[in-house]
Amino acid sequence: MSFDFDEIIDRRGTHSAKWDAMETVYGVSPKDGIAMWVADMDFKPPTVVNDAIHAMADHGVHGYYADNASYLNAITGWMQRHHNWTVEPEWITGTHGLGAAIALCLQAFTEKGDGVIVFSPVYHAFGKYINANERVMVESELINNNGRYEMDIPALQAALNGSEKMMIFCSPHNPSGRVWTQKELRDVADFCIRNDIILVSDEVHHDLVFAPSKHIPMPLAAPDIKDRLVMLVAASKTFNIAGGMSGCAIISDTGLNDKFIAAATAAGSHPNRYGMAMVEAAYSGGDEWLKDLLEYLAENRRIFDDGVNAIPGVKSMHLEGTYLAWVDFSGTGMSVKDFTDRVEKKAKIAANHGGTFGKGGDNFLRFNIGCRRDLIIEAVARLQDAFSDLQ
Ligand SMILES: Cc1ncc(COP(=O)(O)O)c(C=O)c1O
Repeated sequence: MSFDFDEIIDRRGTHSAKWDAMETVYGVSPKDGIAMWVADMDFKPPTVVNDAIHAMADHGVHGYYADNASYLNAITGWMQRHHNWTVEPEWITGTHGLGAAIALCLQAFTEKGDGVIVFSPVYHAFGKYINANERVMVESELINNNGRYEMDIPALQAALNGSEKMMIFCSPHNPSGRVWTQKELRDVADFCIRNDIILVSDEVHHDLVFAPSKHIPMPLAAPDIKDRLVMLVAASKTFNIAGGMSGCAIISDTGLNDKFIAAATAAGSHPNRYGMAMVEAAYSGGDEWLKDLLEYLAENRRIFDDGVNAIPGVKSMHLEGTYLAWVDFSGTGMSVKDFTDRVEKKAKIAANHGGTFGKGGDNFLRFNIGCRRDLIIEAVARLQDAFSDLQ
């Protein structure tokens, strides 16, 4: 492994949401607590990314950005190399992060009061953007089949009331780490085609997948969905550059793409040049770094799962992708407050509360394992200690 993911980098006092807001949000002090919530990692990105930022700082003039051909080429090159997905540059619109892209989709393709389908529990900000835009979130609860989530499309179909115009689909899935299969993706596409629904496929976690699982981009799983498909991707999770606020919508259908661009224009929305520079550098020279990262995360996952699953009644869903471990405490028989208190007050770990991810999430906490190995080992030891009376 040529990259040192064990390097100690103190993020405290650097305006890091994960470390500097944990006390306010969870009452866990960063002095002796471990931050395992916000979905960024504690690692530096590939050297080429920081070199690009250094070069811009050394040049020293920070004016407007133009000529995005090299940025677009870096994106199309990455999608071809890593996902076998051919993207034309004119299908791409850079956005101020993916949250902005989701909000623009809601504004471009739905009206106030329209229903927007999500499979919950799911990334909590989907609901935030749906509600803030005065659309109605329609939750289709995932079935927990022996520690593995599955979609219940027949139940969703039966519950439709005709107001549903869009689905925001998370693939791979945050918070469970499910990497959907070809059949599952086909079923989602068929559902959207059958019910005249725009499919927004948020694939931000697509590079963070552990073999033998394999991510399939929606346009490859279901080529015939393309006239109602919006793809959302970003380098932010893959390369840990979320502060660059840079994502992109990739839309091959011209009519749909024009509507998205019109919404972006109406909102005056742009990515910023530092984010674009980071994306371009990462997609051009980050391949080896990503290989090493996945190896490192796979071992973090093994240590975390082995340690946590040894606690009676606690079960971590096996991550097929992402660095976000979704841990079920229902088998402990404790109330949500009791197990959460133990994690926060005894183990001094800040983890996301499952209930914020929607229906079916209450008995879970989400732990971010995108951190140094020694912190994973320490977190496991603290959790085992906090629940030691159950042993
Ligand atoms: C599924 C999903 N979409 C979007 C985002 C946020 O993207 P951004 O930070 O670019 O707004 C996240 C962040 O965790 C995510 O998990």
